[in-house]
Amino acid sequence: MITKARLQTLAQEHGTPLFVVDHDALRKNYREFRKHLPRVQVYFAVKANSDPAIVRTLFKEGSSFDVASMPEFRIVYENIKKLPAKKRQDWIWDKIIYANPTKPTETLEELDQYKPLVTFDNREEIHKIKQHAPHAGLVLRLKVPNTGAMVELSSKFGAPPGEAVDLILEADRVGLVVEGISFHVGSQTTNYDNYLQALQLTANIFAEAKARGYTKMNLVDIGGGFPAPYDSSVKPFRELAKVIRPEIDRLFPKEIQILAEPGRFLVATAGIAVSKVVGKAVRDGKPSYYINDGVYHTYSGVIFDHCKYPILAFKQGPTQLSAVFGPTCDALDVVSLAENLPNLERDDLVYSVNIGAYSHASATYFNGFPPAKVVHENE
Ligand SMILES: Cc1ncc(COP(=O)(O)O)c(C=O)c1O
Repeated sequence: MITKARLQTLAQEHGTPLFVVDHDALRKNYREFRKHLPRVQVYFAVKANSDPAIVRTLFKEGSSFDVASMPEFRIVYENIKKLPAKKRQDWIWDKIIYANPTKPTETLEELDQYKPLVTFDNREEIHKIKQHAPHAGLVLRLKVPNTGAMVELSSKFGAPPGEAVDLILEADRVGLVVEGISFHVGSQTTNYDNYLQALQLTANIFAEAKARGYTKMNLVDIGGGFPAPYDSSVKPFRELAKVIRPEIDRLFPKEIQILAEPGRFLVATAGIAVSKVVGKAVRDGKPSYYINDGVYHTYSGVIFDHCKYPILAFKQGPTQLSAVFGPTCDALDVVSLAENLPNLERDDLVYSVNIGAYSHASATYFNGFPPAKVVHENE
């Protein structure tokens, strides 16, 4: 855990805005996942935070990786590039899934040499893969309920369960091997039923495929969605694990390999944003602070991730309902319209915890303001 005093020291040393990554937290989250779901191979979803040092720490912990673009693949590849060719190839087979159901042909052509595991969810993609990455192994992405998830994904991804076996047989017909099924229950899912329904749907499809003569599937990828503890309403991970662990064992025999692609769960609590007040005004009767980080930068999750990050002050004192704005000239750049803050002055520091996922990863250079400087602690 990084203390408030340490955050202030780092801000003095490096300036602001600052994005602090706590590698102890990364290791703790990874180990917690492994402890409570020991049958599940963890593929960190690099998109959640693709900082190479984060990938390196999880690599050292033994993590596998979910990549969704060639640049993400290369960040992971950096860690294995010095392995002998055969070892490197085995590592890629065992520990990388390219989990973007729609892939450009150029990507498939580059990936093919690695005989990668890739996801798909429609007919067009089967034929594209056959033509441009014929050595790939396939995983069918299934559309599953995303009820109540903070970030819904099922409107854009996943084959309807009714079409799943037809797609598997079509891939088989053209000479590709479908190795298993994946799903994503929606990011920050606190509704455990989503996992239970998705597991049951997957088991039904395994059974239907078998009944129709297809017996080559040997893996189930339960995706991401595992919630970060943003507030006290989120139950601890072990509670979710307690619900899905027996269901996995009930539905899938031991020889079926189980994968997961957690992103947020591994990195959310490992990121802290520190910024400073660069101006203040009164707007609609409220004290309003302009800080040097905002929704085009580390707080991009406010927009893209539908996430809220409480703004905390280092300064003590009686608080007042206040607004916090980002530094750009866009009126969309509102970090929060309702924070309880003490009376802040120019140059006072503020911070947000649990901001490691889908935050710095989607920061831009808008308006000439670069993304926050990244500092690694406990690496
Ligand atoms: C295919 C896939 N896998 C894994 C993830 C990571 O999800 P989460 O951060 O909810 O664990 C995502 C997030 O969008 C995804 O699209």
